[in-house]
Amino acid sequence: MRGVLVTFEGIEGSGKSTQLLRLSERLRRLGVSHIVTKEPGGTALGAEIRRLLLTRHASGEAWAPEAELLLFYADRAQHLKAVIRPALEAGQVVLVDRFEDSTRAYQGASGVGEDALNHLRDLVLQRLRPHLTVLLDLEPEQGLSRAGSRNEALPGFQETRFDEAALDFHRRVRQRFLQIAKDEPQRVSVVPAKEDPALVEAGVWRAVSPLLRSSGIEVD
Ligand code: TMP
Repeated sequence: MRGVLVTFEGIEGSGKSTQLLRLSERLRRLGVSHIVTKEPGGTALGAEIRRLLLTRHASGEAWAPEAELLLFYADRAQHLKAVIRPALEAGQVVLVDRFEDSTRAYQGASGVGEDALNHLRDLVLQRLRPHLTVLLDLEPEQGLSRAGSRNEALPGFQETRFDEAALDFHRRVRQRFLQIAKDEPQRVSVVPAKEDPALVEAGVWRAVSPLLRSSGIEVD
C-alpha cells in the first residue's frame, strides 16, 4: 500500500481531536492529501455501532467485555474496508482518532486477555499496522476533568467523575498505552499532553514530519 497510516491514541481528555485538527490544518496548508477519521464511528454503519457502545441502554443492561470487544472490532473491520484501506491504496495520508491500541488498552483493562486481543487483531487487521502512533500522554485526573461526562456507557465512566474506581480504571488504561509504547518504540511516539496545545502541536509535528519526509512527502 502506498499511503501512510498515523493513529492517535490516549485517554479521554488527552486532546486527540484538537491535535488531529491542528495537524490536518497544517497538512492542508502544505498541500498534503489526507483524510481524518475516527473509531468507533468512522463509517455510516460504524456510527450505529458507536451509538450502541457509547449510550447507556434504557434497560440498564451493560455489554459483556467480550461483546464490547467484538463491537469495537466490527466497527474497525468496516472502517478498514470502507475507508482506511481504500485511502491507503490511493496513496493518502490517513489520520485516525483511536485504533487498535485503544482496544488493547481499554478492553484489556476491562479484563479481555491477550490471546483474544491478538486473535481479533490478526483476523481483522491482517498484516496492516500503523506506520506511526502518536500517544498523547496525560494523567487521568487531568484527562477526566477535561473530558467531562461523554461516553456514559463505557467501563470506568461514573456520574461523579473523580470517583476512585473510574480513576483507577483510567490509570490502568494509561499504563497499558505506555506499556505498548515501551514494547514498540519504533512505532509509538509518546507526546506529553499536559502542556499548552501549541507546544503539544509542536511535539506531534516532531513525531509526524520525519515519517512524511521519509515517505517522500514534501513538508518543508
Ligand atoms: P472517543 O470519545 O475518543 O471517541 O472514544 C470513545 C470511547 O471508546 C472512549 O472511551 C474509548 C473507547 N474505546 C474503547 O474502549 N475501545 C476501542 O477500541 C476504541 C476505538 C474506543
